[in-house]
Amino acid sequence: MRSSLRWRLTLTYLSIIMIILVITYVFFSLSFRDYYYNNVKSDLTRQSILVAEMTIYYNSEHDNGLEPFMQSICNRTATDTDTRVTIVDSKGIVLGDSSYDARYMEPHNNRPEIYQALQGNTGIKVRKSATAGVNMLYVAVPFDNGSVSGAVRLSKPLTEVQSFYLKALMILIIAILVTGIVAFLISREVANKFSRPVRDVTAAVQDIALGNLKRRINYRADDELGVLAYAVNNMAQYLETTIDEISRVKNRLETLLDNTVNGILMVDMGGRVTYANPMALTLLATGKNIVGRKHVEIITEYEIIEMIDQVKDSLEPVKKEIILHTNEDKVVEVNVVPIKDSRTSAHGGVLLVINDITEIKRLEKVRKDFVANVSHELKTPVAAISGFAETLLNEGSENPNVEEFSSIIYQEAQRLKRLIERLLELSSIESGMSGVNQEKLDMSQLVSEAVAIVQKRNNVTNNNIMLEPIKKPVYVRCNGDLIIQVLTNLLDNALNYSPEETMVKVVIEEQGEEIKVSVIDKGEGIPENEKERVFERFYRVDKARSRKTGGTGLGLAIVKHLVENHGGRVGVESTVGEGATFYFTLPKA
Ligand SMILES: Nc1ncnc2c1ncn2[C@@H]1O[C@H](COP(=O)(O)OP(=O)(O)OP(=O)(O)O)[C@@H](O)[C@H]1O
Ligand SMILES: [Mg+2]
Repeated sequence: MRSSLRWRLTLTYLSIIMIILVITYVFFSLSFRDYYYNNVKSDLTRQSILVAEMTIYYNSEHDNGLEPFMQSICNRTATDTDTRVTIVDSKGIVLGDSSYDARYMEPHNNRPEIYQALQGNTGIKVRKSATAGVNMLYVAVPFDNGSVSGAVRLSKPLTEVQSFYLKALMILIIAILVTGIVAFLISREVANKFSRPVRDVTAAVQDIALGNLKRRINYRADDELGVLAYAVNNMAQYLETTIDEISRVKNRLETLLDNTVNGILMVDMGGRVTYANPMALTLLATGKNIVGRKHVEIITEYEIIEMIDQVKDSLEPVKKEIILHTNEDKVVEVNVVPIKDSRTSAHGGVLLVINDITEIKRLEKVRKDFVANVSHELKTPVAAISGFAETLLNEGSENPNVEEFSSIIYQEAQRLKRLIERLLELSSIESGMSGVNQEKLDMSQLVSEAVAIVQKRNNVTNNNIMLEPIKKPVYVRCNGDLIIQVLTNLLDNALNYSPEETMVKVVIEEQGEEIKVSVIDKGEGIPENEKERVFERFYRVDKARSRKTGGTGLGLAIVKHLVENHGGRVGVESTVGEGATFYFTLPKA
């Protein structure tokens, strides 16, 4: 914390104070020394003048000798002024001295300060005393009382002057030190006061960063820190609402994922499970804690692992129906899609959505079985009705009603028979291509066969159906009978839903990896909004017309099923009144 704001502030204040104090000290000590010396000098000068004035009172008639008089002045003033006092006559002969016996002292006229005084000036000198042997400050002034003249000299040892000066300096230093300490304490307090809000704001921000988003800063002032505190509070508020919102969404999502009937599993590119909802755990019959583990360790269905690998490689979604042998032979539809990492937008792994379709499959089977069974059961009575109606018709009767009614019964029974056949056909197609024989066949060959069948059945001449010639054979892998069934259905429709004298054209084309077969008629055509629906079961554009042609509405549904079972597509292009083009594609062999 030595580098904390408080310490830096304190140190800054302290350095400023120290610099001021040092400058003050130097300045004061220098001027104080001058002042002190001058003071001592002027004191000595004034005292010398006083002593000089006292010598004027010497009266040779009353006083018993010059020397004793001067000596007594020297002694008395020396005690009063705490100095050494020397009085000399105009020739420099010592008349009295407070510290030494004047009788044994040499003439002092050669002392520079006395020399000056005898010239009539004030002499001031600092020098080593020849008598005392120490550095002294000397001040000498002249005197003259008519009968006698000379000089008075007062002196002080310099050591004494200096010790005074040093004492004064000591006091100054102590004063400076005390000021310094007080200044330090005050500056620390000030620094403390200034840095406290910064510390408070910092503590609050740290608290917020640690996740306490309810924390707010209670610093309200108009300064920069106040603006910062306001911004931090706003930020915390924003974070709080955003995170609240995120956790609400997260909770909603979690509830959804926990309760959905779909199994959802995420696997990262490294093959580790990153998420699995409860349904996924149930369907895949894995243990509880699978997040973080390798998917190959926990998914036992080989097909699912294969799908995951395929999506990781191709980055294309894959969808498949799978039987879960490890979980009561449940039938599931597994969708595997690649997912992107939201941050890097690189591929972040795969998402598995597993739907339990066991029940749907079961119901579908029930329905298929039902249709097959019903159709089968209906076949026998319908055959009987149709047979007897035919016999009645052939035998004839007097009653014209009998002939009419038996004819109606016969026609409707025929229609019913056709419908039953169609339903049986459709239900067998629905069970898929398993067990259906497939081989490499020439499509133009198949079309020719289909044209021949239709022409024979409808008694139409060759001219009515035109097969556009194709130069080379075009091979497809298929079951020939089923593709002929597709073609005859389309050709039947083309003939049934167009006027008798118009042409029906069949065109075979190669389109990339596919073979496209189109059946083109010049009939009534199909309205735009019905195009998709004509492939639905029992859907007929014109119900009355279809009934007249004996149509069941199942032909195109059968076509669509058969083509898709072979891996192809069906479609229709049409303009009402101008005709229709029904086409299908099959992959090339
Ligand atoms: N070439 C076409 N031109 C105009 N409309 C057509 C054509 N082909 C089919 N349709 C319409 O589509 C409906 C469905 O045809 P689909 O072949 O499925 O049944 P259908 O012909 O009525 O009966 P089915 O084929 O079983 O005898 C037909 O009823 C008819 O209205
Ligand atoms: Mg038809």
